[in-house]
Amino acid sequence: MNPVERVVQAFADHFDGRPAFIVQAPGRVNLIGEHTDYNDGFCLPMAIDRATWIALRPRDGTVSVQALDMNDALTFGLDALPRDTAAWGRYVTGVAWALQENGYTLSGWEGVLRGDVPIGSGLSSSAALELAVARAFAAVSGFAWDARRMAQIGQQTENRWLGLQTGIMDQLISANGVAGHALLMDCRALSLSPVPLPPGTAVVVMDTKTPRGLVNSAYNQRRAECERAAEVLGVPALRDASPADLERAADRLDAVVFRRARHVITENERTLRAAGAMGAGDADELGRLMNASHDSLRDDYEVTSHTLDTMVNSARRQGGCLGARMTGAGFGGCAIALVREADVAPFMANVAREYEQSTHLTPDLFVARPAAGAGLVEPAA
Ligand code: GLA
Repeated sequence: MNPVERVVQAFADHFDGRPAFIVQAPGRVNLIGEHTDYNDGFCLPMAIDRATWIALRPRDGTVSVQALDMNDALTFGLDALPRDTAAWGRYVTGVAWALQENGYTLSGWEGVLRGDVPIGSGLSSSAALELAVARAFAAVSGFAWDARRMAQIGQQTENRWLGLQTGIMDQLISANGVAGHALLMDCRALSLSPVPLPPGTAVVVMDTKTPRGLVNSAYNQRRAECERAAEVLGVPALRDASPADLERAADRLDAVVFRRARHVITENERTLRAAGAMGAGDADELGRLMNASHDSLRDDYEVTSHTLDTMVNSARRQGGCLGARMTGAGFGGCAIALVREADVAPFMANVAREYEQSTHLTPDLFVARPAAGAGLVEPAA
């Protein structure tokens, strides 16, 4: 059974009958442009062919969800959102809260939810869940789907309901992904330009299978360091500073803050160059920029980990690998590699073997195809 058939079947098992709607929202990988979104900068993510699906039908002012992967369920009234739910449920109640906070009138629904974005591994399973829930509410409540606005609803859920100070990248790509393409994102203008993957290449996801330790506190600390750097440089955000501006301010910046700023400023440049390289079909240049991005995240931003570095080093040793880097917030989770199509099978086998030998952990490697963003799915006939 494909994922759509599985939610339709599960819906029938739990609620009897057929769902009125099926919605999906994808996870993502970021090709380059890491820790730049909250600096008003540029990033280059793609939505992937792993997603969260919900099969649902309308009901009174109550939401009732069966989370198949968790073997858990949640029912709540839209006029009395509970705070004390399981972790996954907080995304559902949080999206309901953010939509109502922004003036949307919501109808209730009942449905089943499942996903195949690995949880907690840096592929944005949370953004996928938020956008799928938002899409479900749009379907039953009958309001128009505004992808950019819904990405902001997802971000508000994170920032104000869950207390996580994340940027907009994950929600924006889950809402707006374009099949076959990554999107160059300007996180100040919230503008998006599709760029195709270089012909003959594939993006391999390499899950280190290590949890992302300390991710929230370290993430917030990096944000604060970037704000400090922008303040000393006298710019609204690091997006507005050039490498020359940074050099001129070097003696006024603490050494750590200087390195954090150097990562962000050079990463913005690399991201724009990477989009140019992709537009020109230059896979070698994209790979070189991905390598430089990882090295900067390792040495200046200090958000890689032993397992991420081990995986990336192994990937770079293989034939057909054009570049490799961590993806997402870091501190564990996933790395990605740009690999020539013809070399993907030996690449995956060799990296898995080498990684397991040196870490005694079994990684998960798979090819991620660039997919479309959140939307309604046609049920199989
Ligand atoms: C997480 C956040 C994003 C972004 C990345 C790092 O995925 O949710 O907003 O900051 O980390 O690039």
